Amino acid sequence: MTTTTKRIAVVPGDGIGPEVIEAGMRVLTRVNEACKLDLAFTHFGWNADEYLRTGISMPPGAMEDIRDHYHAVYLGAFGDPRVPDMKHAADILLGMRFQLDLYVNYRPVKLLDERLSPLKGKGIDEIDFVIFRENTEGAYVGMGGTFKKGTSEELAVQEDVSTRKGVERIIRYAFDYAKRTGRKSVCMSDKNNVMRFGGDLWVRTFEEVAKEYPDIEHFHMFVDALTMQMVRAPEMFEVIVTNNMFGDIVTDLGAALQGGLGVAASGNIHPGRVSLFEPIHGSAPKYAGKDVANPIGAILTAAMMLDYLGFPDVAADIERAVTATIVAGETTHDLGGALGTRAAGEAVRGRLA
Ligand code: IPM
Ligand code: MN
Repeated sequence: MTTTTKRIAVVPGDGIGPEVIEAGMRVLTRVNEACKLDLAFTHFGWNADEYLRTGISMPPGAMEDIRDHYHAVYLGAFGDPRVPDMKHAADILLGMRFQLDLYVNYRPVKLLDERLSPLKGKGIDEIDFVIFRENTEGAYVGMGGTFKKGTSEELAVQEDVSTRKGVERIIRYAFDYAKRTGRKSVCMSDKNNVMRFGGDLWVRTFEEVAKEYPDIEHFHMFVDALTMQMVRAPEMFEVIVTNNMFGDIVTDLGAALQGGLGVAASGNIHPGRVSLFEPIHGSAPKYAGKDVANPIGAILTAAMMLDYLGFPDVAADIERAVTATIVAGETTHDLGGALGTRAAGEAVRGRLA
């Protein structure tokens, strides 16, 4: 281990997580050797099995260890029917988002090949934008409560929390990203016609931050209209920024636009600090262990992580190799191919520079 070593915590998780992460790891270890990236991997077996066996999601001190000693976390998926309340998933995944303050949820929507487009007449030129989802506030903070629970008069309150600091930093990140990557516009989406208080804070902050970026267009869209326009005219969008809950919802739609949940990648980022990278898909328990899950989401997630760690060329090469397998039809069934998880991953690995 040297000062340039990038330490990566690998957390395969539940269901199809271990299989897709294994495919991603074969790509990562290959580029690590070929390009001398100096990546060091440590595997952590936190998952439903462990939780059911020990009653703990993550051992004491593990979060601090990740925070203080790692550069990135490469995570598969969480969720298991034996843990219906998703306790371990919430502790680990949402726990990292909150405790590591990973305020940027970066979810690109990029169609890699025309044949994956679900929209008639929309191809790689039209479906190419990124969504920044606020990742540490909103409805996810778990504030609220119940009253007269279990009676006919039961009342439930679930709060949607926005802070000036939280809203400003995600909006600023979206503008910075647009500026850095040559994107021309930023769309902020909320529902301020109904959610007046939070919406007002988002709108004011958006207008103020936008003034610092005079070269970047900015516009607002209600989130219901956003879902319609993402399908009707995805070419309208370059960068979208929105809150935690709306971002959760519209990024599943975004995944469908780029070819399905099997290919979508995401990053949970705190710039300059340890950040967490995971495919958008879940643990899909019914497909676990069957060698059918699409490894592309996990492989593109690995590429995104390498980009974050300072290896944009390696990331671009992985993306190119993935696109080549799609063009060649060497994919899993969800994309119309005939390969299993392992073989589809190897098809990518075999195409790396
Ligand atoms: C996601 C997932 C999570 C979320 C779940 C698993 C808690 O849907 O990463 O989009 O709601 O954020
Ligand atoms: Mn989601």
